[in-house]
Amino acid sequence: MPEVVLRQMLERVEPGTPPDGPRGPVARLERRLAEMLGTQAALFFPTGTMAQQVALRVHAARRGREAFAAHPQTHLDVWERRGYAIVHGLRFHPAGDRHELMTAADLALIGEPLAAVVWELPQRDIGGLLPEWHDLVAQVAEVRAGGAAAHLDGARVFEAQAYYRRPLEEIAGLFDSVYVSLYKSLQGVRGAVLAGDVPMLREAATWRTRLGGNVHDAWPLALAALTGLDTLVPRMPEFRDHAVALAAAINADGAALAWPDPPQAPMFHVHLPAPRAAVERAGAAMIAEHGTQLFPRLRTSPDPTRCAFEVSVGENAMEFSPAEVVSLIRELLDRAAR
Ligand SMILES: Cc1ncc(COP(=O)(O)O)c(C=O)c1O
Repeated sequence: MPEVVLRQMLERVEPGTPPDGPRGPVARLERRLAEMLGTQAALFFPTGTMAQQVALRVHAARRGREAFAAHPQTHLDVWERRGYAIVHGLRFHPAGDRHELMTAADLALIGEPLAAVVWELPQRDIGGLLPEWHDLVAQVAEVRAGGAAAHLDGARVFEAQAYYRRPLEEIAGLFDSVYVSLYKSLQGVRGAVLAGDVPMLREAATWRTRLGGNVHDAWPLALAALTGLDTLVPRMPEFRDHAVALAAAINADGAALAWPDPPQAPMFHVHLPAPRAAVERAGAAMIAEHGTQLFPRLRTSPDPTRCAFEVSVGENAMEFSPAEVVSLIRELLDRAAR
């Protein structure tokens, strides 16, 4: 609800708060996230797209290397029109299978010194899967021993923390740089923060300016994110428990498949035994008739008789009981079959 968020944002503005500068909301947010992540500093960016491309570029320049590796479904490759290559002159090695987590063996197959490796935690496009902690620690150590930087795409790092149950600084501490989204788990307006050491962030700030990302009026974005840090981050374990309950009910019913089973983060995918076009029509009819939206976007499957959608459990999803979600999925499938 915008009015609730706006009221909560106002509570975070003390009289005389300047819009910019070291006492302004952006600097407060940067300090707060650096403290939570245990990094030397943090730097606001207008988007995660810009923050991550800049992080990789800085790691590459420092190492005199131009290749990086990441999961085949990384946001950097799928959604950013190859900005890493066209804007920054970097090369991408997809590591591993697109439907599975990246492994140490996948990384070992890359026969080239890398500037950086990117881990997305949780890996959104495969239902929010996360590597086991000991495996992650071993992968990162191996990569860093080879001279590459370890970068965390932590767009949803607070969701990942709900699975690892470790202090955020222990998770972030594995990496040379960490990006956190201000509008995903934190349900802010927009924006991102890049965290790491001071020399790296100084170079990143120069690139942010060159790319037109040094916006001076970002205080509403920072206030919205500060609100999310206070109100939503403490609820992540509750969101995760609800995701587990929803997935269990869906799988017990059996009409659809919730995966992973059980969910690790407060997110999972629902795989449906119906083609995408039919489910799209059914979903649109449900919105028109009773205003319930089950998914914003459907995912195709190599099997043309199936498709899937993502469930991300935050405040809104808490309003739906497992039984309600099962009955909505049944309604969706009934309508898709007509
Ligand atoms: C995992 C992941 N990384 C990076 C991004 C990019 O963030 P932004 O939309 O702020 O550019 C997104 C956005 O959806 C994302 O999901």
